[in-house]
Amino acid sequence: MAPPAPHPRPRSLLFFLLLFLFLVPPPAFTEAAEDVKGEVRHSQKWERSGKSSENNLELKEIVFVIQSQSNSFHAKRAEELEHDILQQAVQLGQELPTVILLHKVARHEGAWTILPLVPNFSAAYGRNSSWIFFCEEETRIHIPKLLETLQRYDQLKEWFLGKALHDEESTIIHHYAFAENPTAFKFPDFAAGWALSMPLVNKLTKRLKTESPKSDFTIDLKHEIALYIWERGNGPHLTPVPELCTDDGSSAPAPGCATLFTTSLPLCGMPVEEKDIFVAVKTCKKFHGDRIPVVKKTWESQARLIEYYSDYAESSIPTVDLGLPNTDRGHCGKTFAILERFLNRSPDKTAWLVIVDDDTLISLPRLRKLLSCYDSTEAVFLGERYGYGLGTGGYSYVTGGGGMVFSREAVRKLLASKCRCSSNDAPDDMVLGMCFSGLGVPVTHSPLFHQARPTDYPRDYLAHQVPVSFHKHWNVDPVKVYFTWLAPGGEEAGAGRKQPPSKQEL
Ligand SMILES: *[C@@H]1O[C@H](CO)[C@@H](O)[C@H](O)[C@H]1NC(C)=O
Ligand SMILES: *[C@@H]1O[C@H](CO)[C@@H](O)[C@H](O)[C@H]1NC(C)=O
Repeated sequence: MAPPAPHPRPRSLLFFLLLFLFLVPPPAFTEAAEDVKGEVRHSQKWERSGKSSENNLELKEIVFVIQSQSNSFHAKRAEELEHDILQQAVQLGQELPTVILLHKVARHEGAWTILPLVPNFSAAYGRNSSWIFFCEEETRIHIPKLLETLQRYDQLKEWFLGKALHDEESTIIHHYAFAENPTAFKFPDFAAGWALSMPLVNKLTKRLKTESPKSDFTIDLKHEIALYIWERGNGPHLTPVPELCTDDGSSAPAPGCATLFTTSLPLCGMPVEEKDIFVAVKTCKKFHGDRIPVVKKTWESQARLIEYYSDYAESSIPTVDLGLPNTDRGHCGKTFAILERFLNRSPDKTAWLVIVDDDTLISLPRLRKLLSCYDSTEAVFLGERYGYGLGTGGYSYVTGGGGMVFSREAVRKLLASKCRCSSNDAPDDMVLGMCFSGLGVPVTHSPLFHQARPTDYPRDYLAHQVPVSFHKHWNVDPVKVYFTWLAPGGEEAGAGRKQPPSKQEL
């Protein structure tokens, strides 16, 4: 890969392309696209039959699926990527490919888990396309290089292509799978883009009719999809493709990469001010002595408005006793009491509420930047998204340990509804997910929040993130974890990597 640049490099071609796209008004673009489309139709004829792998792969044979989200910030980013893909097609003089924005395909709560939509992809494109290429909204694609890359693989065979990640040790987020040899199983880094050949899509479709994915829970989708495809050895492994990269797409151009990724923290204008974020820490008497001191030593000083909610009032912290009995698990009663208190009593109608556990480690300066991209007058419910029962009409939720972020409007909407805990010890994060799902408020996913410890995630995956949170003290020194991964000062760089500051202007 390219050596680190001592100075910010000249802006990449991609930057100019993006700039160009922002400047070109959509109608002009559409007309241009239609023109080119017409010309191409004359000169090239679609011939599916008798196709062999030596033939040039045409762009229209690839269906692009952007793993997009309906929140307005994310939808806009995905539309910009769609525009970029189509614009590149025009410039190549190729017929336009199909580009699908996942959040637009279906109101289906589980669309983001992809497997439920595979039969639909098979029905619509199984006969006339060769590949489905999936990517995230921040993936940047160099289309000619992608075509060249996919062409190397015989599209009449079953292929599962991507940038391979693996566990270093067995981890809770993968249900401790492959405990004897955790590094052996490979799964795709979605950020780099990943692809399924149509024969594999069609095979998966048949299998999905009789065999749904094993678990009721969706925790780490990329791992779960790879497991389903692998089918305990009956299906293909992920084939690692070196051209699918997660190098930073807005600084040094990476030769040889068909994809790149925006690795910096999103920033849209000024960071949200400290006074606009209210932090609620859930604790209980038995953890006052060991967990709260960690919060005090690490991130508490970054919070302007913070309260600790416990089953016991202790003035040295201080904690607020919400008058509810502590529950060993669940905390639903406590969480709803926090929501009520925020809505009715928080000073100056604070825009944002963050609820964390007493063993959550969080970077509030990074959160303030991230939140600049969201509109607190919209109902925003943000964090690391998990799913429950999504194959059968379940719901998505924000997993509590990584931190749950609510806009004031989301809290207002929720409390105005009748949706409440079934019991004080119901799992709060799941109940909230169910309630918001019923209200039509989507979970907005950010992979920068983490329900587990840094050691629970692949190193290569964390390398292209600026993490906002981690969770759990088990077998780690949490103070060290905070200062290594989350402490102020590293906001600009992906973990352990320096990047020119100029890119945040993008
Ligand atoms: C996908 O296919 C199923 C079964 O044919 C259908 O019921 C469903 O509405 C389709 N979903 C979308 C988003 O097209
Ligand atoms: C394949 O069929 C789908 C649905 O019928 C259509 O939208 C798409 O444009 C077709 N693709 C090609 C390459 O003909």
